[in-house]
Amino acid sequence: MKLRLLFTLFLLGLLAFNQSCQKKPALNLVPQPLSVTTTSGYFTLTADTRVFVPNGMDDWAMAARYLAALVEQGAGFRLVSQSIQQDMRGPTENAIYFLPESSIASAEGYQLEITPTAIYIRARTAAGAFYAVQTLRQIFPPGINAASAAWQALCCKIDDAPRFSYRGLHLDVGRHYFPVSFVKKYIDLLAAHKLNTFHWHLTEDQGWRIEIKKHPRLQEVAACRSETLVGHYSDQPQRFDGKPYCGYYTQEEVKEVVEYARQRFVTVIPEIEMPGHALAALSAYPELGCTGGPYQAATKWGVFEDVFCAGNEKTFVFLDEVLEEVCALFPSTYIHIGGDECPKTRWQTCPKCQKRMKQEGLKDEHELQSYFIRRAEAMLARRDKKLIGWDEILEGGLAPSATVMSWRGTEGGIAAAKAGHDAIMTPTSHVYLDYYQSDPNTEPVAIGGHLTLEKVYSYEPVPAELSPEEAVRILGVQANVWTEYMKTPDYVEYMTYPRACAVAEIAWSAKEKKDWPDFARRLRAHFARLDAMGVNYAKSYFDISTSFSGGKVALSAIDPVLQIRYTTDGSEPTPTSKRYKEPFAIAQNTTVKAAVFEGKKQMGKVRTVAYLVHKASGKPYTLARIPDKYDGGEQYALTNGVTGDIKTWGNWVGLVNRDIDPVIDLGKPTSFSRVTTHFVNSKVSWIYPPRGVEIYVSDDGQQFRLLASREIPAETMEGITVETVVLDTPGAQGRYLKFVAKTFGVIPENAAGAGNGAWLFIDEVIVE
Ligand code: ACM
Ligand code: ZN
Repeated sequence: MKLRLLFTLFLLGLLAFNQSCQKKPALNLVPQPLSVTTTSGYFTLTADTRVFVPNGMDDWAMAARYLAALVEQGAGFRLVSQSIQQDMRGPTENAIYFLPESSIASAEGYQLEITPTAIYIRARTAAGAFYAVQTLRQIFPPGINAASAAWQALCCKIDDAPRFSYRGLHLDVGRHYFPVSFVKKYIDLLAAHKLNTFHWHLTEDQGWRIEIKKHPRLQEVAACRSETLVGHYSDQPQRFDGKPYCGYYTQEEVKEVVEYARQRFVTVIPEIEMPGHALAALSAYPELGCTGGPYQAATKWGVFEDVFCAGNEKTFVFLDEVLEEVCALFPSTYIHIGGDECPKTRWQTCPKCQKRMKQEGLKDEHELQSYFIRRAEAMLARRDKKLIGWDEILEGGLAPSATVMSWRGTEGGIAAAKAGHDAIMTPTSHVYLDYYQSDPNTEPVAIGGHLTLEKVYSYEPVPAELSPEEAVRILGVQANVWTEYMKTPDYVEYMTYPRACAVAEIAWSAKEKKDWPDFARRLRAHFARLDAMGVNYAKSYFDISTSFSGGKVALSAIDPVLQIRYTTDGSEPTPTSKRYKEPFAIAQNTTVKAAVFEGKKQMGKVRTVAYLVHKASGKPYTLARIPDKYDGGEQYALTNGVTGDIKTWGNWVGLVNRDIDPVIDLGKPTSFSRVTTHFVNSKVSWIYPPRGVEIYVSDDGQQFRLLASREIPAETMEGITVETVVLDTPGAQGRYLKFVAKTFGVIPENAAGAGNGAWLFIDEVIVE
């Protein structure tokens, strides 16, 4: 007994010795500050710690109260707060000072100094002080409570400032409504990551969610849809739940949310969609549509042709009255008026719209949209507000002082900045958090796409095309959370975090500070904070990525410390399965199953990939245009031995209005007799068959001979289907194979997405 005690003490001693010899503990802050220097010792927060705030500065007191509330929640004691004159120093023992410091350059920047006896928070504004509090919160242990360890903060000195002034996160409450309690939590989390703008997408085809007193039918009618699509849009046949779905925020609730956000230095930008995405409003006021209705709030997702009539003066009276109430509710300078995805079909045949175009000398319906947006801008300007719109507001001419939210890509932001307008970057390719973050086969249903944490992190918001003078027009970056498939707060959190942590770092941290492996390491520590905040974040951090190139399958995990174990016989991986060390060759069709383990514990999901081995699988290729949004999940997705799946939308390579034309290097002269591919036909989702496919071969990669071609009757294909094309190429030989799937081009009139470029989706070029 005694001996065992002695031995235990000896072990403990060893442990302590070890710890003291280890290098200083890392702070693992997210987002990464400009500069961090840790020193020795700790500040210990106790019930006696006094907080000094500058006299008569309410917003500083607000930042201090936020800290006190965090401490009270976590530790169960109340910090005593005292006012001091700005130039006065109080007692220096066991105190936290909030000190205005006019020499700090950045309005939201701060200095945080933690010593064993006091904590000094210096900032030019209260917002900076608030961000210092958020950093301090990360330095204290996460989720600490009175019963556990002490509130200790490692001594350090931090200098910090944001890279961008606009750091946003959006939430669509139109497709699904979320209670005020969740909206507040969403804002709290956003502020915890030093984001400063909440873009509240309040109106949609599927529901109008903000009370407008002047127009009660918006509450009585437009806040409800009769039922909701069940499962994925592409499921055939589509099914509906048969249950009415309603919800809106009263003006009192809106005020409560705005005030809650203000106390967290978050600006709430409301979005009132016009002229498109307006079906719910039209269901309440059908006279505002071109046909007069009747209309129903949408029960499924998409882009709908019934939009606000731009010829009817009543539309503008209605919107002016709506904006009157909206502008009074939101102190934000910016109001978002949507402007995206507005089909022009109704306008083309509406006598009122056509008359308006004549009267105003507008040459087409794009100019009519531009006219619409300019009128909205004038309504806002009268109320000292500024307009933000999605990048379609560029079409037909930009309203004079509009700020553009670039979502379809970066082109809108580039065009706006070059024209001397401000822009906010929110491209689908990098910050659409409704896209799959991991293998769609193991994820809950999402809208599609493929956007890993690493890809989000890789985003650089300032396009290389801009000169330094133009680049200052990029106000910042925002991630969007569209909730078609997110019915619950838990699911919203799952899709938003941890990818929003990466967004926070893109938006806040200096460009030179960006470091993916370091972020990944810090994020693993940050998970404990998300746990403590009760966030249902995704664990795809612990999932496996795969690639098949150079004839070998490579497996990878984000955290290099963890082990990857895998099987090739179809069995589930276990802690004793083969440990992955390097890429391995597969010679025939093989199912690989892999997972990440920490010791015996499986950390993420099992990744299952069924490889089809053929003459081009694992071979590299070049493409005239690299896909960004639908990249098939890896660099050589068209030859990765994996076919596409329409249920999950995984593994498709997609381009808009461009041919998909890989030139595959087979590595050596190779004979082949058949080439097969699949494409998607889903015109409702703007995905069209190719006009045709062509196969060429070459010995040198320069001179190509046409081997075979096939036209495809794209117009007549119906429904949502995956189609197969097989081209026989008897006796063909060559080292380079060029496969061309020709784009359908522009979507014709009277079809969903008319006038836009059609998507082309191909999964694999199978060569036999
Ligand atoms: C958008 O995603 N329609 C802005
Ligand atoms: Zn009209």
